[in-house]
Amino acid sequence: MLTASLVTLSACGKPADTDAAKQEAAAGEESASDIPESATKYTPEDLEKSAPMAQKAGPESGVDYHSFANTNDYLIKHVGLDLTADFDNKVLKGEAILDIQRLTRKNPALILDTRDLDITNVRAGVGNSLQDVKFSLGKTDPNLGTPLKINLPKGASRVAIQYQTSPGASGVQWLEPQQTAGKKHPFLFTQAQAIHARSFIPLQDSPKVRVTYKATIRTPEELLAVMSANNDPETEKDGVYEFEMPQPIPSYLIALAIGNLEFKPMGERTGVYAEPELLDAAAAEFEDTEDMLEVTEKNYGPYRWDRYDLLILPPSFPFGGMENPRLSFITPTVIAGDKSLVALIAHELAHSWSGNLITNASWRDLWLNEGFTTYLTNRIMQFVYGDERYQMEMALGYDDLKADLDDREDKDEIMAIDLRGRDPDEVFSNIPYEKGSLFLYELEQKIGRANFDQFLMDYFNHFAFQSITTEDFVKYLDETLLKQYPDKLDRARIQQWIFEPGIPEGAPQPTSDAFTKLDPIRQQWLNGEIKASDIDTDGWTFHQWKYFLDGMPEKLSEDQLAELDSTFDLTQSKNNEIAFSWLMIAVRNQYKPAEPRLEDFLVTIGRNKFLRPLYRNMMVHGQSDSAKRIFEKAKPGYHPLTVKVNSKIIYGD
Ligand code: BES
Ligand code: ZN
Repeated sequence: MLTASLVTLSACGKPADTDAAKQEAAAGEESASDIPESATKYTPEDLEKSAPMAQKAGPESGVDYHSFANTNDYLIKHVGLDLTADFDNKVLKGEAILDIQRLTRKNPALILDTRDLDITNVRAGVGNSLQDVKFSLGKTDPNLGTPLKINLPKGASRVAIQYQTSPGASGVQWLEPQQTAGKKHPFLFTQAQAIHARSFIPLQDSPKVRVTYKATIRTPEELLAVMSANNDPETEKDGVYEFEMPQPIPSYLIALAIGNLEFKPMGERTGVYAEPELLDAAAAEFEDTEDMLEVTEKNYGPYRWDRYDLLILPPSFPFGGMENPRLSFITPTVIAGDKSLVALIAHELAHSWSGNLITNASWRDLWLNEGFTTYLTNRIMQFVYGDERYQMEMALGYDDLKADLDDREDKDEIMAIDLRGRDPDEVFSNIPYEKGSLFLYELEQKIGRANFDQFLMDYFNHFAFQSITTEDFVKYLDETLLKQYPDKLDRARIQQWIFEPGIPEGAPQPTSDAFTKLDPIRQQWLNGEIKASDIDTDGWTFHQWKYFLDGMPEKLSEDQLAELDSTFDLTQSKNNEIAFSWLMIAVRNQYKPAEPRLEDFLVTIGRNKFLRPLYRNMMVHGQSDSAKRIFEKAKPGYHPLTVKVNSKIIYGD
């Protein structure tokens, strides 16, 4: 694939140096003499013309189509932040100091990624001797934001940018006290993955660039700031907080939260930050985190990030979890009271190896992050909770994958997905997660578990603190497993998994006895042979409930819905995953008694994994008016990302 794309591009007479092209695009209307030498080859119009050909050729490995940064000329190595959180105006304001490494003897402009930033001054130079320099903003792209072009004095290795964010910054949510558990204090959190760091820091916002960072964060005195860095559980709340992240990380892992937060330890290296109202419940729910950390280290190599803490966010957090290093950000909607949803913690922890230690070089390679993490999650769940839980988690993941394959175009079933010209927020699916994990599971099955575990441990060591492409991984496979097990593995099949749609024939099909025994019971009830109250649900796990509900046919009668609901109290389920599965059934069958719960669910929870399918279902099952009404009501409390992706569903483009 890679070779093919290079050949086709040069056959078109277009150079393969896409970074240079991006630089040119960023140079915008500047005069020719202003344009950096390395970027004099073609204009944005040229790029446009070549697009159909590039489309055919496939994305080029290692090119980040989602950053303007000229990373072939400069690399940012360290970021120093001094930011004040102004809750009245909903802006972060201050300075970012970037230390840059020069990769070229020439002196081209430095191009950074920004989105909706108000840049007031830029200085550059060496050490502390910085002088004001010229800067300009290029043309805004709806997906990528706006390139910031900075003219550097010769030899400059430091840039200081004064700026403030916009109140609608795509990577920051400012919450009113009413949206928090305590209802008294405001809250702020950032969510940088995939390309939102640029909305709160001007930088090279590409996962192939790793930086260390230091930050001073100034907040209202009574609030606490935490970051993906060295949080100090003992710190005094005084409104000025200092952080350091000494390990190099990609920009999408820079994270900040501010709120009325307290800390509770769970183990020697693990603890929880949360509002006081949630702290004890969270610490109890996630008390196995330390065990998870230990088994993962034992099997896959040392945990290299010092502490591992959790931050429990308000329910508007648009994801289940986010693997910000040293401090995973977690939705409160997984505090179910029975540890049934803690696979999420295993998942975010696993990213400390797959993702944070070895990072996808571009968003096309996301499966290297999420597929490995999903595989490790299952293994961690087995180590800590045993075989039955493992089988169930695997089987649910497999069912999710099959459901996703049912409604996706072929090109989006490819693990190394073509994201050119697309917004990553709109495209990510279960494919990188579950297909990636199934692929690794097949490798494990073929060569044996102990051998595969050894491979993973070696892989994490080999590429530690690097960002790699799919091709780097395949090359590594060539040099390791394919050499060691030539009779068990073959390259063609690996290519098929990564570069072709669907699931290769003969792939493993994870199932669970705890699930398959529910099939005849569901069927008997559907046939009217037994009543819901005849079903012995004592001891059913959340996973079994989910399987039982998700396997219901498209249509159920009013009587069937009412019977299920009155017998199992599904509309009032306290488990958000069960409530979600039930609400999906309720929406597609227009089951009225569930409507108040549906509205409450959509207004109070901002997790897109739930919201998107519910809104989509409402739109196709004749409830577009109420979808609009509820969305408009909920909108002021939603995260910018939640607003963006669900507006598309409700109002179209
Ligand atoms: N890193 C992801 C979240 C993410 C992915 C944010 C891509 C932005 C772009 C995180 O680790 C994740 O996968 N979260 C899942 C957890 C689940 C699979 C257990 C989620 O939020 O649902
Ligand atoms: Zn993940």
